[in-house]
Amino acid sequence: MTDDATRDALIAAARDAASRAYAPYSGFHVGAALLLKNGDVVTGANVENASYGLTLCAETAAIAKIANEGWIGELTEIAIVGGRPERDALLGSDPVHPCGRCRQMLNEAAERSKTDILVHCASGDGKAVQSYRLSELFPAAFGPKDLGLIPD
Ligand code: THU
Repeated sequence: MTDDATRDALIAAARDAASRAYAPYSGFHVGAALLLKNGDVVTGANVENASYGLTLCAETAAIAKIANEGWIGELTEIAIVGGRPERDALLGSDPVHPCGRCRQMLNEAAERSKTDILVHCASGDGKAVQSYRLSELFPAAFGPKDLGLIPD
């Protein structure tokens, strides 16, 4: 696949994941799709709770899935989409960027993967995409390398 085709497939997977969000409180459905080094795609969606502060973001849910499978060191790219399906079936026209906690969670996987991962922040229709390296979104991060846990 070309880089553009890979990005577009990840965005489509993230949109599909967003359809499985559990977001009855905010009504804001987010999907994340992680691309692993072997080409596999793992997705997640946000999970809200009646105790609002316990919410899990889509990116965090997806990272938990790869960590639980032993794949925390296999990440290369992520796409994120989000919006309000009651307003727009395609989840809006604005790219969604990862929150601060998710950037920290992504950094953990990125350092373990020895990859400055690509982060595609997309509108639901895939027409507006802003792509970054994680180091642009989250410079000077604290991570496992600061604890001496990343072997050369
Ligand atoms: N949300 C995510 O899933 N990822 C982010 O990076 C930002 C916010 C979710 C959390 C909550 O369920 C909803 O979006 C509104 O904040």
